[in-house]
Amino acid sequence: MKALVLSGGMGLRLRPFSHSAPKQLIPLANKPVLVHVIEELRAMEVTEIGIVVGDRPEKIEEVLGDGSGLGVRITYIRQEAPRGLAHCVAIARDFLADDDFVMYLGDNVLTSGVTDMAKEFRATRPAAQVVVHKVADPRAFGVAEVDDDGRVIRLVEKPEQPVSDLAVVGVYFFTPAIHEAVTAIEASARGELEITDAIQWLVTQGAEVTARTYTGFWKDAGRVDDVLECNRELLDRLKASVHGDVDGESELIGGVVIEEGARIVRSRIIGPVVVGADAVVEDSSIGPHTAIGRGCLLRDAEVSNTIVLEGASVQGVGAVHASVIGREASVTSAPADGAAHRLIVGDHARVEVAA
Ligand code: TTP
Repeated sequence: MKALVLSGGMGLRLRPFSHSAPKQLIPLANKPVLVHVIEELRAMEVTEIGIVVGDRPEKIEEVLGDGSGLGVRITYIRQEAPRGLAHCVAIARDFLADDDFVMYLGDNVLTSGVTDMAKEFRATRPAAQVVVHKVADPRAFGVAEVDDDGRVIRLVEKPEQPVSDLAVVGVYFFTPAIHEAVTAIEASARGELEITDAIQWLVTQGAEVTARTYTGFWKDAGRVDDVLECNRELLDRLKASVHGDVDGESELIGGVVIEEGARIVRSRIIGPVVVGADAVVEDSSIGPHTAIGRGCLLRDAEVSNTIVLEGASVQGVGAVHASVIGREASVTSAPADGAAHRLIVGDHARVEVAA
């Protein structure tokens, strides 16, 4: 079985972070979402991976390369514009050849994994197998109507009146039967080739389409609040380990990871927390649920439930909460004589000041 990972798209909901890099590279517990996805594929014993990339393929290639560092083989497939999930299958036709494959949305986080479902798909080979998850409000999702034997009767994209509470998760298993479906459908009202339409086409043709229910944590890391929630979930699963330097005046509480070359000085770290390689934390209180990227500087800072990306600094600022601080960004207190806030904030950024 091969894999097709979708890593194009606009990422508009994750601005400003998607201005400088594709949203699938945002780090969760200090690892890009895409790396979590590839690790999950490896757990399913899938190593032949095609990645659909959009307008900044070089950013993704810089991080993943040919995949050998992660024990997989990666083929990049360029999508000129985000024309829909089924369009991704169409442009990957040569890579996929006549193999079965799992299609994985590159911004989806499933912490309990779907290896059992992959095993079942390999053994039973229905034309398509979707993964569904019970949600309180299905109207924002593709929704599946499923019979008592787990067969899909109907799929509807973002229904106003949902036929069930089963949202379709961003992991799909396909046999080559999907290729005919993808060529048979037409673009939807929003101008995209929808994968739900292609799967519905299979159902209408009488092909076997099954659904399996996933009960663990699932979220697409599409907006900042979702990213923070995914980060918390992944941090909760970290095993504590200290490779950097922690001085005698510092205290580590709970699940804390201090990466190689990081220095913790006169600080309190309340896990779960990861402090990235070569970061410096001085006279600060960090955590819980905080990920500090490589090479960051935190001095006289109090930071919790936050992601600080590579090379950023926070100095002389308390009560930083539920925040995402971009690469190389700097957050400092105003100079002693300055009673005003001074904001140099990039396009589409959002600042909430405790006034
Ligand atoms: P979306 O969440 O719809 O991604 P988006 O980038 O359009 O998000 P936004 O609404 O914030 O602009 O898509 C799910 C995943 O599939 C995501 O990883 C991007 C990817 N994708 C493609 O690779 N090609 C496409 O044509 C589309 C629509 C999405």
